Amino acid sequence: MSISIKTPEEIEGMRLAGRLGAEVLDYITPFVKAGVTTGELDRLCHEYMTNVQGTVPAPLNYAPPGYPPFPKAVCTSVNDVICHGIPGDKVLKNGDALNIDVTIITKDGFHGDNSRMFLIGEPSILARRLAEVTYECMWLGISKVKPGAHLGDIGHVIQQHAEKNGYSVVREFCGHGIGRVFHEEPQVLHYGKPGTLDKLEAGMIFTIEPMINAGRREIKEMPDGWTIKTRDRSMSAQWEHMILVTETGYEILTQSAGTPPPPAIVLPARPAHKEAVQA
Ligand code: MF3
Ligand code: CO
Ligand code: CO
Repeated sequence: MSISIKTPEEIEGMRLAGRLGAEVLDYITPFVKAGVTTGELDRLCHEYMTNVQGTVPAPLNYAPPGYPPFPKAVCTSVNDVICHGIPGDKVLKNGDALNIDVTIITKDGFHGDNSRMFLIGEPSILARRLAEVTYECMWLGISKVKPGAHLGDIGHVIQQHAEKNGYSVVREFCGHGIGRVFHEEPQVLHYGKPGTLDKLEAGMIFTIEPMINAGRREIKEMPDGWTIKTRDRSMSAQWEHMILVTETGYEILTQSAGTPPPPAIVLPARPAHKEAVQA
């Protein structure tokens, strides 16, 4: 099997899916605060998808081989939960760090998959820094995307930035190709070596979604069959965008009015201001 190249019609369908997926995160943002339960956030997202967008939550009843059906519409992963947290009666409190991962399916059958971090109240310096470095990791990966680049280039830059900051990269879960299928080829590893693995071509669509741990990289699976935690109980963060490879570079498909801007680390260096140079 190989990586599919999307047709212009499929790309148009994925632009819509990506925007709708991002708009669910915009919608839920003002509700994410101390005192709310993850179950309530799930209910609100589900209602918005169904009643406002006319989309379907891809996670609901999703059951890859070896997994029980996922019981909710979105994933909510708090503090030491790395990914696939199941919304429930957990009440968010001051200082929590939460990832909400939304995947919608449009009426034409295309998937829009993305996630963001939310920090509750006054987060610790560690939580803030971990979320920020993880965001930079995702963006450094995105900035490598162009025809002729290799998947290993993406993984390498993510791993380098995470480890330089004293953090670790989760190995068991990765980004993925996506389209009418939720998870398809390729696997997008968040670690690796430049120049290795598949070569990128215009028309490929995949996610970049690094999971970065403050402590060790090892994971622990919970008995619910889905929730993944850090083995050492350290905090974990994740961000996710869906990316199209274009003729000249990349296009972020999961964009909406509320998409956070790129971090300074990926912006081109600006020349020093004239006065500053003369001084
Ligand atoms: N949205 C997740 C991803 O980024 C997958 C969640 S699968 C679920 O690939 F069943 F847990 F929702
Ligand atoms: Co996702
Ligand atoms: Co994904």
